[in-house]
Amino acid sequence: MFNFNQQYKISENTISPFYYDGASKIKLYNLDTFSFFTNIPDNCVDLIFADPPYFLSSGGITCGRGKRVSVDKGEWDKSRNIEAVHEFNKKWLLESKRILKKNGSIWVCGTFHNIFSVGFALQELGYKILNNVVWEKQDPPPNLTQKYFTHASEHLIWASKTKYSKHTFNYDLLKTISNGKPMKSVWRDIWKMPSVDNSEKKFGKHPTQKPEEVVKRAIIASSNVNDLVFDPFCGSGTTGVVCKKLNRRFVGIDNNIGYLKIAKQRLAATNNNIEHTLS
Ligand SMILES: C[S@@+](CC[C@H](N)C(=O)[O-])C[C@H]1O[C@@H](n2cnc3c(N)ncnc32)[C@H](O)[C@@H]1O
Repeated sequence: MFNFNQQYKISENTISPFYYDGASKIKLYNLDTFSFFTNIPDNCVDLIFADPPYFLSSGGITCGRGKRVSVDKGEWDKSRNIEAVHEFNKKWLLESKRILKKNGSIWVCGTFHNIFSVGFALQELGYKILNNVVWEKQDPPPNLTQKYFTHASEHLIWASKTKYSKHTFNYDLLKTISNGKPMKSVWRDIWKMPSVDNSEKKFGKHPTQKPEEVVKRAIIASSNVNDLVFDPFCGSGTTGVVCKKLNRRFVGIDNNIGYLKIAKQRLAATNNNIEHTLS
């Protein structure tokens, strides 16, 4: 089992969590995710929610609040050739498979820049793809070049560890918020608000922050109270905030201290035990 009180080591150096909430069983580490994986035993995580770099930052421009703005998110998101993107994805997805319990599952977010590599890597590694969820953005920025359709969707691939996994799927709970009908894999009702609500940015902004509503739907669909959720690229801590609200245990990693400072403040300001159902 993953031990929350255990101290982890990298090259003989003990690593302390950047943030630890013992009551809610939430931990954040400021590390390279590949180093941290080496500390995690096999078969110990119920669910992985990963929002990895999309590798889309290539000096392009987009429209933000009516102005031309750069699409660059940071060094960590710089475009790479397809082989390098695939090598990166295969490496962390291999480790993710190792640490998942036999009935565990994984969500991976992306756009066309990375999602085909992610999908291919998942299949190469023997995961079973369960769904390709599409969420439609209500307020996508217009395409300034006028050479393409407006990019108005992102993807979340959901996969189980193997084809033999008996993955968690809270079908009835999801039906209750889908007007009594089975929930579809196109999520368009989530975006009744700006991409990320302002209340989720009050401690600072992450350039690719996910809306809590999107993460919440994934977590509640595929995990149960007390399950251990792992996010290898946790950024400003959205997955952790959702896990705290839904009473899931959580471990998040990011190698950017600035983003983790935002995550820490968001987590400290979040009450647990308040939400057991979807709104
Ligand atoms: C798409 S963002 C995640 C955003 C997050 N879902 C949120 O809502 O704030 C990807 C994150 O991965 C982190 N990252 C990139 N490469 C990493 C690595 N090798 N180890 C740890 N973190 C990494 C970046 O710092 C960035 O915060």
